Amino acid sequence: MSKLAPSVLSADLADLAGAARLCEQGGADLLHFDVMDGHFVPNLSFGIPVLKALKARTTLPLDVHLMVSNPDRLLDDYVEAGAARVAVHWEASVHLDRLLARIRDLGAAAGVALNPATPVEVLVDTLGRLDYVLLMSVNPGFGGQAFLPHALDKARRLQAMIERAGKEVEIEMDGGIDRDNIALAVAAGVDTCVAGSAIFGAPEPLERMLELRRLASPQMAGSENL
Ligand code: DX5
Ligand code: ZN
Repeated sequence: MSKLAPSVLSADLADLAGAARLCEQGGADLLHFDVMDGHFVPNLSFGIPVLKALKARTTLPLDVHLMVSNPDRLLDDYVEAGAARVAVHWEASVHLDRLLARIRDLGAAAGVALNPATPVEVLVDTLGRLDYVLLMSVNPGFGGQAFLPHALDKARRLQAMIERAGKEVEIEMDGGIDRDNIALAVAAGVDTCVAGSAIFGAPEPLERMLELRRLASPQMAGSENL
């Protein structure tokens, strides 16, 4: 069963606790939390104080996606604020090996996020150091963009690389995931699907979440392959 991680970026930002409650009711596995610094990506979102406040209002593990230029700068604070998992961008990390070790030392799961133009093969010597890869299926910075289908091929290549290396590394996909493509992502080897606008932009977010979970079940994902 693949996991669903609603992205609160698309929720009512004045009521994040309400969004978290809805995600708990909808059977979400994680809450995806997008940190944007206005530098690595053009947009600004939220940071440590908001993460801390959200942590106090939900039992769901917080899946932090750092879209920032200097991920090393506040890393410890993000984990201390309650992140269960932290992904840093490959494109923003000069000393990736050290960063990943630091995340694990602090007790969180360590992830690397890859932009759409970055090949998965750059991680061939890093697989033993990380718990998950966050494959971007849009260019990071905004919710509500269209899914880039070549992310599916990247997931398949990454899955093969992980198997060849005999490592336990999860694949997460982020951006433009909706009813039309979630089963394709799961069939391509994705373990965790992030969805923002597909859930919070829906007339009935709770029902949409349940529908996405159903579509992401292995049977449905398999049927897309036939
Ligand atoms: C984009 C963010 C995503 C975003 C996904 O930069 O990393 O997590 O919230 O939103 P949708 O599902 O609307 O593409
Ligand atoms: Zn994200």
